[in-house]
Amino acid sequence: MTPGPSTAAAGKASAAAAALSEVRSGLTLGLGTGSTMRYFLDGLALALRDGGLTGIRGVPTSHDTETRARALGIPLVELHDAGRLDLAVDGADEFDPSLDLIKGLGGALLREKMVVQAADRFVVLVDPTKRVGRLGTRAPLPVEVVPFGWKAHIPFFREWGADPSLRMTAEGEPFLSDNGNLIVDLGFPGGIGNAGELDEALQRRAGIVESGLFLEVADRVLVGDADGVEVVDRKERP
Ligand code: A5P
Repeated sequence: MTPGPSTAAAGKASAAAAALSEVRSGLTLGLGTGSTMRYFLDGLALALRDGGLTGIRGVPTSHDTETRARALGIPLVELHDAGRLDLAVDGADEFDPSLDLIKGLGGALLREKMVVQAADRFVVLVDPTKRVGRLGTRAPLPVEVVPFGWKAHIPFFREWGADPSLRMTAEGEPFLSDNGNLIVDLGFPGGIGNAGELDEALQRRAGIVESGLFLEVADRVLVGDADGVEVVDRKERP
């Protein structure tokens, strides 16, 4: 059964609270993007205000998160000035049994992946609706492409069994990422057959900047629902 909006909100809030319990004073944090992260940002700001946490620095993954964090008084630092990040925290659009993810429905996938790669640990906050047996079952796979010649990718996407669509704004304009690029959302009827092979193919193709496949990077997924939080840790692969 799909949880209602208030159940989903309660789940996001409890996942965010569980992630906050991993944060110690003095850490440099990657701050992800999306509705779940807003709970985390609110909680972090509260802890900074009441003195429960001090010396925190955050690296935001989008203009939206940067604006929110600034408004909440969370100290920020540029990625290139931060050195290694202690912990990246972010939401996801899907997670599978191996803790591989699809991200990017919010359009921040490139910065999110850069921040995750700079971090020693990556914790993901989700509600139970994000759980899938196979990636691509529930969410499309977002792919960020440079505007030049973007339509040339369409046959390539179709060769991989995808149904591509250019992401549009509510105003009917092409959506532009914070980096000035387009996003093509790839629907996969029945899900993605081999996410690893697809990831490699996308990485090899010029003009594709990044995809929302986050493979083998999540250390922990916190699945929040109205009753509490399930902690799922990544098992090392043989
Ligand atoms: C942003 O680009 C995404 O990767 C988000 O992390 C993802 O869409 C999760 O968002 P919600 O927390 O709003 O579901």
